[in-house]
Amino acid sequence: MVSRVIPVESFDLVIFGGTGDLARRKILPGLFRRYRAGQMGAEARIIGAARSEMESAAYREFVRAAVDEFHPATAGDAAHIDGFLARIEYVTLDARGETGWSDLAALLRDDVVRAFYFSVGPALFGDLAERLHTHQIASPDCRIVVEKPFGRDMQTARALNRTLAQHFEETQIYRIDHYLGKETVQNLMAIRFGNMLFEPLWNSQYVDHIQITVAEQVGVGGRGDYYDRAGAMRDMLQNHMMQLLCLIAMEPPAKFAPDAVRDEKLKVIRALDPVAREDVVRGQYEGTGDKNSDRIEVGNRDSTTESFVAMRARISNWRWAATPFYLRTGKRLRDRASEIAVVFKDAPHSIFGAKSGHHRNILTIKLQPNEGIELGVTIKEPGPGGMRLVDVPLDMTFAEALGPEEADFPDAYERLIMDVIRGNQTLFMRGDEVEAAWGWVDPIIAEWSETGEPPLPYATGSSGPDDALMLMHRDGRRWREIRA
Ligand code: BG6
Repeated sequence: MVSRVIPVESFDLVIFGGTGDLARRKILPGLFRRYRAGQMGAEARIIGAARSEMESAAYREFVRAAVDEFHPATAGDAAHIDGFLARIEYVTLDARGETGWSDLAALLRDDVVRAFYFSVGPALFGDLAERLHTHQIASPDCRIVVEKPFGRDMQTARALNRTLAQHFEETQIYRIDHYLGKETVQNLMAIRFGNMLFEPLWNSQYVDHIQITVAEQVGVGGRGDYYDRAGAMRDMLQNHMMQLLCLIAMEPPAKFAPDAVRDEKLKVIRALDPVAREDVVRGQYEGTGDKNSDRIEVGNRDSTTESFVAMRARISNWRWAATPFYLRTGKRLRDRASEIAVVFKDAPHSIFGAKSGHHRNILTIKLQPNEGIELGVTIKEPGPGGMRLVDVPLDMTFAEALGPEEADFPDAYERLIMDVIRGNQTLFMRGDEVEAAWGWVDPIIAEWSETGEPPLPYATGSSGPDDALMLMHRDGRRWREIRA
């Protein structure tokens, strides 16, 4: 199987925050990979823009170092890197002042796609948007890319949407949620809507419950300040987890087109019930016992920011009214393992009798680390000795099914940036969707701050607080083990 790479010929991509962490770790190495894959045409150019005084030549060395560090080298990379660097320029620019804007204007070409990546804090979105217009840099069909956090509640998200809408049409705004760029997440749609097999069973009549887990081993690292203001709810649940929930639960869109998909996702968010207090568990990882160490990472010694959240969600519509969705995400857990598990109901009657045990089909969509899809089916245990049943996986780990080369998927960012250039918004969040997602989580966060209840401690390397286990046990269910 040979993948088809369509070159995207001509574009000027400006990265505001071009010397920042995201540019270094994800955007620049990702662009290099697309270049190496032959996806960037001869007229493609990337312009870093940031406050640091620097010549383009120095920026190219910065890009070289970023690629070296964050892109695992493969044979032939050395030959490509110079070609890639030849497309890179840099301008020193002040988002809040006038410095550099005319230099940027002079660099940009007419008749090519213009895209502006706002890889900066949301406080600068308004300034950038305004200056792109006052300096007549924004062309009528240019695109802007904005990163999360998109607001910290519904009100601030709405204000941000209004600010951007003063300068850009909704069709020009690409709100990134990198989970939507993950290979398996897109495969979720292919599995659901490309096969006859699953869709008839995809409802409360056949699905007992659905579990969505995004477990991380890492802690908060150097992002303590940001994280202390956000917490797991704002950092992961309001965006990544809710997007997964939407894709799993939405009705089939009439076509795979931006608004058709986003309309259906929005309907899911609007059908979510408010979450009862007893249906949410928040936790915070404990450190080594040294009061000055780990908890400070989350914020400060008295931080009440959660690094773990688990909840039971309900969707009030015909398809899902009787199927609970259990969501959990956390840092410093035992393994890095993210998956969606669709747990089907028991067969209505066992012809094999009580001794054959308890069996269920589970469809597991594994996001990381080993991307793939697994369907647990019940079969007869081979060999003599009567009818003994066992559960075995029908496993489609992509790397095995497709071969390592084909399974060398583009990183989520690479794919999404190329979608921006192509003008495809399907995998980006629309403004109303983001606001609605905040509308669902805001009351939960508000209640936490009203009651002032601290998060429950959990040990580093565990599966989270015990109460998260209880959340399922009381319903007669249990979480799947977190395993990489
Ligand atoms: C980011 C969060 O959006 O997603 C991080 O801000 C988190 O806190 C990261 O670690 C997880 O992404 P991934 O792709 O590693 O699962």
